[in-house]
Amino acid sequence: MPRQPRSRPAETPLFDLGEADTHQGRWDEVDRYLVGTLHQPDPALDAALDTSDAAGLPAINVAPNQGKLLQLLARAVGARRILEVGTLGGYSSIWLARALPPDGELVTLEIDPVRAEVARANLDRAGVGDRTEVRVGPALEGLRALHREGAGPFDLTFVDADKEGNADYVDWAVRLSRPGSLIVVDNVVRAGAVVDEASTDPRVRGVRRLHDTLAADARVTATAIQTVGSKGWDGLTVVLVLDPG
Ligand code: SAH
Ligand code: DHB
Ligand code: MG
Repeated sequence: MPRQPRSRPAETPLFDLGEADTHQGRWDEVDRYLVGTLHQPDPALDAALDTSDAAGLPAINVAPNQGKLLQLLARAVGARRILEVGTLGGYSSIWLARALPPDGELVTLEIDPVRAEVARANLDRAGVGDRTEVRVGPALEGLRALHREGAGPFDLTFVDADKEGNADYVDWAVRLSRPGSLIVVDNVVRAGAVVDEASTDPRVRGVRRLHDTLAADARVTATAIQTVGSKGWDGLTVVLVLDPG
């Protein structure tokens, strides 16, 4: 029996799950089954989580099956260039970078220099350091700089930083895309909190503003799905770029 691929349960629930909290144990069990059956043991991914823990980073990385979903999407669009907003310790970055051909490129944006350093080491250890650039600074500045530099087009963008910035990050990601590029946004359901139109939580407001702007944006078409699993009850918004403008 191969060792189970690891996913790191957060010490405390990321969001108040209310009623749904009673099912968390079963969601964990099902994720263990799915990942244990469909994934291979992966020392580099384990090490990325261990070093993130050791450096005191919060356990808010994507789950293994979410990481692999991102990787499969990147492969399905034949990604040669991938953009990530929100690196943390580089766990999702490793999944994404491994979708790239040897001459492909992942640019990942992180505001915290300590996190960026942990990520840098993890990407190197995973053998994808040669195709990955970790840029330190506020994501909005990083995205503007990429646009100025004429970088891209990026075939897939994963948006997973501060949720207040979602609408702006996706706007810049669209500009940095080609027709057919995908943009995936994490944490868009937040244990159902997203339906509260009167919410004063800036993260909820950030997600709602994202969806309002997407609905009015003729450059794209989008949908979102709710997810349950080891990361609780949350969701992903998936954006297909039709015309980056
Ligand atoms: N994608 C990672 C998790 C990212 S957590 C994974 O799944 O493994 C969100 C990250 O966004 C944090 O590391 C946080 O420091 C970073 N972040 C928050 N605000 C930011 C900003 N304005 N610009 C860039 N990064 C930001
Ligand atoms: C948080 C951020 C994330 O990207 C995530 O996947 C889970 C939680 C947070 O800021 O709480
Ligand atoms: Mg996230």
